[in-house]
Amino acid sequence: MRPFDGHRVLLGVTGGIAAYKSAALARDLTVAGAEVDVVLTRSAREFVGAITFEALTSRPVHDQLIATGHALDHIRLPRAAHVIVVAPATADFIARAAAGRADDLLTASLLAAGDVPVLVVPSMNDRMWAHPQVRANVQRLREIGYHVLEPDTGALASREEGSGPGRMPEPSAIRAHIARLLEPASVLTGKRVVVSAGPTREALDPVRFLSNHSSGKMGVALASAAWRRGADVTLVAGPLAVEFPTGPRVMHVETTQDMADAVRQALAGADVLIMAAAPADFRPDQVAAQKIKKGDAAPPLAMAFTTDILQATRDARRPGCVVVGFALETEQVEAHARAKLEKKELDLIVANRAEEGAGFGFDTNRVTILGRDGSITELPLQSKVDVADAILDRVAGILDGR
Ligand code: CTP
Repeated sequence: MRPFDGHRVLLGVTGGIAAYKSAALARDLTVAGAEVDVVLTRSAREFVGAITFEALTSRPVHDQLIATGHALDHIRLPRAAHVIVVAPATADFIARAAAGRADDLLTASLLAAGDVPVLVVPSMNDRMWAHPQVRANVQRLREIGYHVLEPDTGALASREEGSGPGRMPEPSAIRAHIARLLEPASVLTGKRVVVSAGPTREALDPVRFLSNHSSGKMGVALASAAWRRGADVTLVAGPLAVEFPTGPRVMHVETTQDMADAVRQALAGADVLIMAAAPADFRPDQVAAQKIKKGDAAPPLAMAFTTDILQATRDARRPGCVVVGFALETEQVEAHARAKLEKKELDLIVANRAEEGAGFGFDTNRVTILGRDGSITELPLQSKVDVADAILDRVAGILDGR
């Protein structure tokens, strides 16, 4: 199964320089299993050719509102789609869509879209994006119910360093938003989910720290999957070795105490807490103010306990909050995990043995999920993305019953 199998995307491309990125998006969606119907506006054809999109999607490309044999394309194409995406959306296209124009195939298709979700991905110079007329047009599209992404800040095609947002988001981010719009409503839709990920660092002196090998992959997979399922997600992230996901709000932390403070703050109103992080359990008792010099003997290392975040934030959880912990063990995996589940009053604990292909740094994981109800579910070795979905299915089941 590919993630977009069985889904049809109508991709509208308008005349902006970022149209080249839409070719990458069309390819990415097609490879992921989607059937992509591309509609080009007249000005888009000045930037990219129909043949490029035809080759990438293996489907005919559409660019005429009025053409023999295609009189009803503007009705047929949006009806067949599960989602309509306009990327890039220029200031001119946004103005025409906001005014309800229907003078080309793309705008006419939008009017015939019915309840098919529409994602608009703006791309323009930062000063144009900031113009009150554009702001008003975007506001109008949002009132109509279109999902309008905020552009990125960064280098613009004009090679001016944009001082404000305007740049089209990357195809990977657009793809994540499409996946969210394609997801059917579920018990997680609109729920507030807090996920912690990665290691923490405990300073020894101004240039050294103690930490562990956690990459943050499992936590990031969970945060992404929960967001894709429509949840409002806060990711409390230590220093990660992977990219931050599209969607979740990120709180950056360094030490275990920082993570405890951030989790406490994020827990206000939260429905779910998933502690996938590997916070340091010990910290140097003293942090040297200056770099520790080599000297004649190795310095002694006195250690102190850090805060146990699950225990210390218990009072900040609202009643009914579903709490999931992780347990990475090297021996007696189930017994140790069950003891942690009880001690930390968890609903679920996800246990794994440190082994080749599972745990810190790997893209795959082999876990056993233990429930407060006594259940034990052993999952096969699979990608962390699939493990995340299996965990969220269990969380959804518990939320459903509360
Ligand atoms: N955890 C936590 N605060 C800590 C350490 C761990 O909240 N200071 C959380 C982890 O995020 C995980 C669960 O507690 O969800 C279990 O973590 P683990 O390190 O396996 O357990 P510990 O309680 O630290 O026990 P031990 O290290 O002795 O196995």
